[in-house]
Amino acid sequence: MKKNIIISIFFLFLKINFATSDDKFLLGKDIFLNAGNCSACHSLQDAGSAANVGPNLNEIKPDIGRVIISVTNGAGVMPSYLGILSQEEIEAVAYYVAEASVN
Ligand code: HEC
Repeated sequence: MKKNIIISIFFLFLKINFATSDDKFLLGKDIFLNAGNCSACHSLQDAGSAANVGPNLNEIKPDIGRVIISVTNGAGVMPSYLGILSQEEIEAVAYYVAEASVN
């Protein structure tokens, strides 16, 4: 009995975790296309963008840390998003790019 409760709690926790990752992915995608306008400069197949001002994200497949650094600090003609996107939004768009670019 006690074991069942523990197992249910474990699965509930897993489910919550999946839900939040999914939400983060969708939030990140929305930022990529809209608030961040990343799609104006970067190709990313999942986002349906084919711009080539900046590197093709499907080719460089940046990890989440690398995206956070570029979005926070800017890179060359790429603007810094400090004060434009919140920390949470920067993390979401970085999560999205890291996840979407490997596929
Ligand atoms: C005005 C065009 C422009 C916009 C908008 C833009 N970028 Fe960039 N991005 C660039 C360019 C150009 C580079 C290459 C900079 C360099 O290496 O000199 C770059 C580089 C990058 C890199 C790679 C940095 C590295 O480590 O090599 C990542 C990741 C990235 N951008 C993600 C994003 C994301 C996410 C957004 C939206 C929040 C975004 N970019 C918006 C032009 C843009």
